[in-house]
Amino acid sequence: MNDRYCVIGNPIAHSKSPDIHAAFAAQTGQALTYQRELAPLNGFEAHVHGLLRAGFRGANVTVPFKLDAARIATRLSARARAAGAVNTLSFVDGAILGDNTDGPGLVADIVHNAGVSLSGKRVLLLGAGGAARGVVLPLLEAGAASIVVANRTRATADALVATFADARVSACEYGDIVQAFDVIVNATSASLSGALPPVPAAAFAAATLALDMMYAAQPTPFMAFAAGHGAQVRDGLGMLVEQAAEAFALWRGVRPDTTDILHLLRHPA
Ligand code: ATR
Repeated sequence: MNDRYCVIGNPIAHSKSPDIHAAFAAQTGQALTYQRELAPLNGFEAHVHGLLRAGFRGANVTVPFKLDAARIATRLSARARAAGAVNTLSFVDGAILGDNTDGPGLVADIVHNAGVSLSGKRVLLLGAGGAARGVVLPLLEAGAASIVVANRTRATADALVATFADARVSACEYGDIVQAFDVIVNATSASLSGALPPVPAAAFAAATLALDMMYAAQPTPFMAFAAGHGAQVRDGLGMLVEQAAEAFALWRGVRPDTTDILHLLRHPA
């Protein structure tokens, strides 16, 4: 029987991950299946143990279970520990290994797909929730000179900065932003409700790469605002595909090429 994988979330029907992993499996000649799994909101842990018993080899984890996944993992990678969240589980000899490929996926999308080096760059990170926390370490590892975390609730940004205790990472309020950044990442959940985080226009310049972790058929309000102020814009589709490629590499030992599937998702036949 083929090795079995899945993505667990609630809701999950909209997930593109099965299509992405099917494309990776076909490209690399790996025999596996990958399906959607809807877990009850209060039943994530039991659901994962059911998958273990059924012989699954691994699972991706999405909203709202990434913190639960970190809690139930038998072991965490260093980057999952730093992120405080897990998006990739590997089931090995009855153990549950937790990792987080969201940050490396974001970095791969910026560096390889957008062609923007992070080395020496000033990064503005909008939001201080789990999505923001998960990308701090990978951005630093990719050479970012500084990361300024702006959040509506200042105390949450201060708490995030304190967990990293790194001079390159600092917090500010949206209103404090008076100059342009090289890279701006919208890690708030504002786009989910069609809202724009209150980032001043001064943050954007022609050389700014403005990336929203969300994606939708239409540009998000953040992308529209950034483009309106001259920035290069990018949605979260590339990050989605790259985090999947990182997860696939963890499970299968081969990193698929992402060019074709990213093109297909952007331009469906
Ligand atoms: P996630 O796991 O996706 O990061 P989260 O932990 O609930 O979700 O965090 C959501 C983030 O989006 C927070 O930083 C939140 O700001 P607050 O801490 O001030 O609540 C931010 N956010 C959500 N809606 C927003 C909006 N309309 N404008 C600005 N920030 C917003």
